[in-house]
Amino acid sequence: MTNEPSEPPSVAALAVTDTATKATEQAIDPWNVSAGTDEQGNAKEFDYAAISKQWNTKLIDDELLARFTKVTGKEPHRWLKRGLFFSHRDFNEILDCYERGETFMLYTGRGPSSGSMHIGHTIPFEFTKWLQDVFDVPLVIMLTDDEKFLFKNDLKIEDVRQFARENAKDIIAVGFDPKKTFIYMDTEYIGGHFYQNALEFARAVTFNQVRGAFGFDLSTNIGRIFFPALQCVAAYPTSYPHIFGDDPAGNRSKKSSKIRCLIPCAIDQDPYFRLVRDNSHKMKPPIKKAALIHSKFLTGLYGPGGKMSSSDPNSAIFMSDTAKQIEKKINKHAFSGGQETIELHKELGGNPDVDVAYQYLSYFDDDDAKLDELAQQYRKGDLGTGALKKICVAKLQEYVKGYQDRRKEVTDDVLEAYMTPRELKWEGNKNPVKP
Ligand code: TRP
Repeated sequence: MTNEPSEPPSVAALAVTDTATKATEQAIDPWNVSAGTDEQGNAKEFDYAAISKQWNTKLIDDELLARFTKVTGKEPHRWLKRGLFFSHRDFNEILDCYERGETFMLYTGRGPSSGSMHIGHTIPFEFTKWLQDVFDVPLVIMLTDDEKFLFKNDLKIEDVRQFARENAKDIIAVGFDPKKTFIYMDTEYIGGHFYQNALEFARAVTFNQVRGAFGFDLSTNIGRIFFPALQCVAAYPTSYPHIFGDDPAGNRSKKSSKIRCLIPCAIDQDPYFRLVRDNSHKMKPPIKKAALIHSKFLTGLYGPGGKMSSSDPNSAIFMSDTAKQIEKKINKHAFSGGQETIELHKELGGNPDVDVAYQYLSYFDDDDAKLDELAQQYRKGDLGTGALKKICVAKLQEYVKGYQDRRKEVTDDVLEAYMTPRELKWEGNKNPVKP
C-alpha cells in the first residue's frame, strides 16, 4: 500500500471572499455548499474539476469506464457516461477485487433533516442500487438522525427519529434487495463493535484534524466534534458483525477487516472519507482504505450554481409531488437556456447545457441518440423551451409515479425487515478471473 501524503483541507477552509467586488469563491463542506458569485454578485456554476484537483480525487475517464465494462460485462450507468458521477478514489481497486471474486461492501447514507425526499436525494440511492445489482454485494445504509439533531438546533430528537423512519421507507422504495441490504438509524443501532470502532477512531483523530476538514471552531458543540467518528467507522466492515462475522471470542475479526468498502456519495461528503482513509491503518485490526465514487450536486430548478433544497419547495421536485405539481414547477420555475422570445429563440437558438429541463432529461432518459438530437434541435432554435419542458415533464412524471407506486407497498413490516440487524446473502462475481 502506498503512503499517500495527508490530503489537503476542504475548500471551505481555503475559501476567501474578495471584499472589493461581490465575488465569492466556491465553498463546499458537508453542511454548506456554494458555487460562489461573480463580481456582480451573480451565482456561478460549480467548478467540479477544481474541487477534484483541490481535494486530490481522480476524475472518472473513458479508460476507467472501459475497464468497468470489461470486468463486469455491463454498460456503465448513464450517470457515469454523462459525468453526473464524475470523480473517485480507488474505484479501480474495487474493480480489481470484483475481478478476483472478492467480496466488497457498499456503504451510503442520508441525514434525515426532513420528512420528504426530492429527486436530488433519490439519485445517489438509485445509483447505489444499480451498483448493488451489477456487483451483487452487501449494502449498508446509515441514517444519521444524530447528525441532524446535532447540526440543526431547531430539531428535537423525536423529529429526527421520525424523519429517519420516513426516509428509510422512501429509500426502500428505490428497490433495494432485502437479502443484501441493511438500513439503520444511528440512535438505534450504534453500540457493540460499531461503537468500539468509533472509540478507537476518535482516539486517533485530533480536534485539529476535524477542524481542518470541517471548519469547526471553539464554540462548536462537542457532539458535532465527535460525530464524524460515527459516519467514518460506518465504512469499516468490522462495525457489522452480523453481516461480516466476528472472531471466536466475539471480537472484531481480522477476516472481516480485509473486506473493502465502496462509498457512493455526493462530493461534499468527501471530507469525512478522507479521514476514514487516513486513519484506517490505525484500527485494530487495521482496515483497507475505503474507495469512493463522487457525484455532482443535482441542479435545482433555478439553474446552474444552485442545489435542490427541501426548504424551498420551488427549487426541487419532491418524490411526493403530483403529476400536476411537477408540470407546474417545471413550467414556472425551471431555468431556461432558451431566448426571451420565440422569434429570438428561432434566430439564435438555446443553450441546453444550462437548461434545467434538458439537464433533468439527461438524468432520467437513457436514450443517448434522442438526447443528442434534442440538444441539436434546441441549439438550432428548431425546438422551443415549451416543447422541451413538455418532454421533461412527461419523463419526470413517469419516474415519480413509478416510485410512488413502489412507496405504497412499503409498510411498517417491510421497514422492520430492512432495519433488523441480521445476516445478508450475496453472491458477488460468479465468474472471477483465476489468478
Ligand atoms: N452526512 C450525510 C448527510 O447529511 C449522511 C451520510 C452518512 C452519508 N453516511 C454517509 C452520505 C455515507 C453518503 C455516504 O446526508
